[in-house]
Amino acid sequence: MTAPESETAPEVRLDVDGDVAVVTIDRPRALNALSGDVLEALDAAFVQITDAAASVRGVLLVGEGGRAFVAGADISAMQGRGPEEGERMARLGHRVAERIEACPAPVIACVDGFALGGGLELALACDLIYATDASAFGQPEVRLGLIPGFGGTVRLPRVVGPARARELIYTGRRIDTEEAVRAGLVARRFPDRDALLAGARETIALIAQNSPVAVADAKHVLVAAAGRPTGEAVELEIDGFMHSFGTDDMREGVTAFLEKRTPGFSRG
Ligand code: CAA
Repeated sequence: MTAPESETAPEVRLDVDGDVAVVTIDRPRALNALSGDVLEALDAAFVQITDAAASVRGVLLVGEGGRAFVAGADISAMQGRGPEEGERMARLGHRVAERIEACPAPVIACVDGFALGGGLELALACDLIYATDASAFGQPEVRLGLIPGFGGTVRLPRVVGPARARELIYTGRRIDTEEAVRAGLVARRFPDRDALLAGARETIALIAQNSPVAVADAKHVLVAAAGRPTGEAVELEIDGFMHSFGTDDMREGVTAFLEKRTPGFSRG
């Protein structure tokens, strides 16, 4: 499966290799900055992956060029623009983030280089952030007279806690991979890009041994429950747990355990 080549989507590639989809942002001359075209193409790629949910068990989101995952929203598209354009950009960025969260297969942001502003926000919409030691993270928007616009004020505090998020957003300072791991932002660190991609594929291979329905339902509850009051979040989990009890995969998983054999789960 390859994203259709078109004039509006030339800088994002979608490749499917077995049960792993790889979405590549390929705009290295601008450190993979998120132009409107790149965001639209990302949106289209995740729609395509979600439509192929049965065969895809995990997604890697990567940046091309060896210097950046994504260095933010495209600053060159902001000059001379007013609030209406600000709203349009923010809504488009949020649409992509929500599309990633709605993708039933887990998405791993594979960060090798800068993940700044909208780039960090894109990574925060993914299920996991894996990074090389040569990476840097930050929300530098206030240095441009902006605030984060693709979810930084919402998802960053959930991941690193409100105090760290405030410090990062108000100062705009960059942190390295070691600090990002300590903050809980990066789940695993790797010495280089090859090790990073191999590690991410290993994680997807582990995920692929499990029930696709259960993994998708777990992701759905994790996303839907985030930021909700405990009582509401618990109700969502109860709904999801109840749903599990109606699936063939639950019957197969429980029976296989009791019969001491490997389960044969559905293909999604
Ligand atoms: N938008 C557009 N172009 C960008 C860009 C961005 N976010 N980041 C880098 N580029 C371009 C540069 O303009 C430069 O282009 P030219 O060669 O044509 O001049 C090219 O990428 C290489 O960048 P640098 O020469 O600046 O490379 P460097 O190694 O000196 O610095 C950097 C790297 C520290 C990442 C620096 O490029 C930088 O600070 N980039 C901007 C980071 C940023 O502020 N991101 C937030 C954007 S706003 C946002 O994202 C809002 C939101 O929440 C949605």
